[in-house]
Amino acid sequence: MQATIATSAVSRRGTGAKRVVEEVPPSALPPLAENKTPRHTTRRPDPPTTLRTVAEIAVLISGTGSNLRRILEYQHSHDTAYHVSVVIADRTAPGLQWASQYGVPSIVIPWSGDRAAFTTEICDRIDDAGCDWVVLAGFMRILSPEAIDRFPSRIINIHPSLLPAFPGAHAVDAALAAGVDHTGVTIHFVVEAVDAGPIVAQREVPILPGDTPDSLHARIQVQEHDLYPTIVDALVAGRLTGEVQT
Ligand code: GRF
Repeated sequence: MQATIATSAVSRRGTGAKRVVEEVPPSALPPLAENKTPRHTTRRPDPPTTLRTVAEIAVLISGTGSNLRRILEYQHSHDTAYHVSVVIADRTAPGLQWASQYGVPSIVIPWSGDRAAFTTEICDRIDDAGCDWVVLAGFMRILSPEAIDRFPSRIINIHPSLLPAFPGAHAVDAALAAGVDHTGVTIHFVVEAVDAGPIVAQREVPILPGDTPDSLHARIQVQEHDLYPTIVDALVAGRLTGEVQT
């Protein structure tokens, strides 16, 4: 088995390189202790040093944080191109438990009623954490245009409908009330207009006879949890093609 050492350095936003993880070949490891005899006397050529970048992301929540939980679980079980470096909430949200369980710093910035000041505070904390990407995961506040200026094409949101159908805060109820036979999940870039940014990924969810808002939302969330971590990972790694993913 090859031994590796990971070294990391965090660069500020805008320099191109994110957190660079360098995998150092075994030859760079300290020499064996004197009482250990190397088993191989023929030296193998060193493998090439590989570099990969890891994007630091901020996740913003207001509620139970089940999507945050999945994003963290996925990070801890895959070789992701993202790393959650801060969680920010506008209230003492139950979902903050997932940040603490995974050892991620969290910040509560209570909604003050002043959108501009609230947005500046959030953007400053995201900058402090060295994040390039902002992932909204059930964040129930609308940020001012300053956020889009400071993180252009770097803020994404997940919405429980197939946008442009059923935008707004009551998308699940609206789909049920409309009597349609399916709804779904959309991941999209955040722009000034609410729930109107370019779509990155969508997945359909059927509406079943007897569905209630809770039963339908639960099935939608199963798809959200499957889709969001993989799309975040693909986006920050630059693996998305520009076509909507399903
Ligand atoms: C999700 O259904 C998402 O689509 C919507 O808010 C909900 C957040 O759920 N924007 P959770 O807090 O991640 O459990």
